[in-house]
Amino acid sequence: MSEHTPTSGQQALSALLHENRRFDPPPELAARANAQPSIYEEAAADRLAWWAEQARRLDWDTPFSTVLEWDLPDAKWFADGRLNACVNCVDRHVAAGKGSKVAFHWVGEPDGDTRTITYKDLLEEVSRAANALESLGVKAGDRVAIYMPMIPEAVVSMLACARIGAPHSVVFGGFSAEALASRILDSDCQVVITADGGYRRGAAAALKPHVDEALEQCPTVRAVLCVRRTGQDVAWIEGRDHWWHDTVETASSTHQAQSFEAEQPLYLMYTSGTTAKPKGILHTTGGYLTHVAATHRLIFDVKPDEDVFWTAADIGWVTGHSYIVYGPLANGTTSVLYEGTPTAGGRDRWWRIVEDYKVNILYTAPTTIRTLMKWGEDLPAAHDLSSLRVLGSVGEPINPEAWMWYRKNVGRTRCPIVDTWWQTETGGILITPLPGITSTKPGAAMRPFPGISAEVVDNEGKPVGNGEGGYLVITEPWPGMLRGIWGDHDRYVSTYWSRFPGVYFAGDGAKKDDDGDLWLLGRVDDVMNISGHRISTTEVEHALVGHPSVAEAAVVGASDETTGQAIVAFVTVKGNVQVENEAATEALVDELRNTVATTIGPIAKPRQIILTPELPKTRSGKIMRRLLRDVAEHRELGDVTTLMDPTVVNMISEKMTAGGEDEA
Ligand code: WTA
Repeated sequence: MSEHTPTSGQQALSALLHENRRFDPPPELAARANAQPSIYEEAAADRLAWWAEQARRLDWDTPFSTVLEWDLPDAKWFADGRLNACVNCVDRHVAAGKGSKVAFHWVGEPDGDTRTITYKDLLEEVSRAANALESLGVKAGDRVAIYMPMIPEAVVSMLACARIGAPHSVVFGGFSAEALASRILDSDCQVVITADGGYRRGAAAALKPHVDEALEQCPTVRAVLCVRRTGQDVAWIEGRDHWWHDTVETASSTHQAQSFEAEQPLYLMYTSGTTAKPKGILHTTGGYLTHVAATHRLIFDVKPDEDVFWTAADIGWVTGHSYIVYGPLANGTTSVLYEGTPTAGGRDRWWRIVEDYKVNILYTAPTTIRTLMKWGEDLPAAHDLSSLRVLGSVGEPINPEAWMWYRKNVGRTRCPIVDTWWQTETGGILITPLPGITSTKPGAAMRPFPGISAEVVDNEGKPVGNGEGGYLVITEPWPGMLRGIWGDHDRYVSTYWSRFPGVYFAGDGAKKDDDGDLWLLGRVDDVMNISGHRISTTEVEHALVGHPSVAEAAVVGASDETTGQAIVAFVTVKGNVQVENEAATEALVDELRNTVATTIGPIAKPRQIILTPELPKTRSGKIMRRLLRDVAEHRELGDVTTLMDPTVVNMISEKMTAGGEDEA
């Protein structure tokens, strides 16, 4: 399982150098922080009672009388309670007199393209969309796929599904038609919500054509609801396709929501595992909403009546689900919703957004911080960032240099940084500092959140001591935990609950430092982390061997200065394929990279593809990825004693050095 070192040597070294640095919480923040130091003791004294107290901050139509039913590995939280997730995120704030409060400051990618959406606007839009979905025949329990750009209608669609009890399955707009089709098919979605296109990196990108292509393989989809965003021409199938402006905007703006049991499925989110087939991670209603609302309030220290919160992520990923949509809205927060990438509209676009909207809390990924860092200190320095109070990081281990840069140039040494560890599967944050309590260390996620029980264990599952490393496990169930993998209970058990009996294995390496604080070290399985996106090596290998010229492919994640890891593929071609010169090699490599983009999506395009006559294998025929990783990172080769033909690696090494790096 864990044949590779999770972080590069350089990163480990700099982490070591920073290990003894600590930054105390700013006293003025600590004094009125939502989480006070007693919180850990209170939660530990009675974990379930503490979670029940968090759950009671939501509105329940029928209060729950049980907190947890645990039949390892199957959990039910607040099982006899009934509630509606959308009502908790929208209606109850309007009912409390906050209808005119802004839910979203939406910022489109093209400069000047903005919209302000109040809670009352949101209620009306969501009600219309819920009515429209019902008129298209969607009932509680039906799955709805959402494949959209970052526009308010995407959030409205998610909430409308939640309102009528139809689990949504949001597919990131950067995924290919094929990836979309496999996700629609796996969970048998009946309706797809999309847009003609969206703006990304300064240009209009098409979405509807991908849906049309995907649906050729998906006969069960009976309706497509399409938002006009870019105005580009789209093909249209009468009877199946419906414009949002004809269907939703003409529907009634009142909708009577009903309540659902706490374990009603809320959504599916597909994520990469160690096999080629993505897993449909299932989240349900009451426990999930409790978890994301509590973590959002306590970790980001959000004061809904004062703060502007900005999670700079895409709603196509779990971070967007939990900390753009469900957490912030359950707490009645004002958020920024930004359509584009940091590059669009100038390199200071982000700082202008912070300044214009007086953002108080910013939550983003290390890969973005490193990009902003490359552009220099002058850009953030030229803007008024004094509104910022708390900074967050998520998605991959944050290297201490990026942490320090973030602290100095964005937080102006005033804002605590919360490095939050969690996963699609965990639903919400599990390991994190608390901004008014924790003395933070650059690069460490520090401690389990109150009410969460985590450990670092060795190969045999025994807890390691301070100063030692091992595998991160979660030892008690938590409210936001996944309830399964769609349609595959066996895979749920074998993936998460079998490596170490009785505990949840996250797939990450971790270290406890001398103080017992936690440092996350990255994946220990064959899942890569590219710019905070999980991509499986097997999935990319499958895409490559799907090309007619390819005999074999081995894919590794090599460390990369900006993206954390980058995809490097080693490929052997079939005997009858001639790649006689450099031009032919280049053409084939281009073609292969495009094959991966069309099979999975542009985010999975390898940075580098090396054509090689052979792959290094063990005597039993297993590809030695560890060696390939060494080669890809230009490291000293590890142990080669089990290698069948050692000359193969030398040959590949030479090719790497000769070939140079092919920028994605
Ligand atoms: C990694 C994203 C170190 C980790 C929310 C995990 C992190 C995977 C951190 C989940 C962090 C996420 N420090 N590593 N603060 N946050 N990860 O499902 O390897 O897209 O298993 O969820 O990202 O990625 P996912």
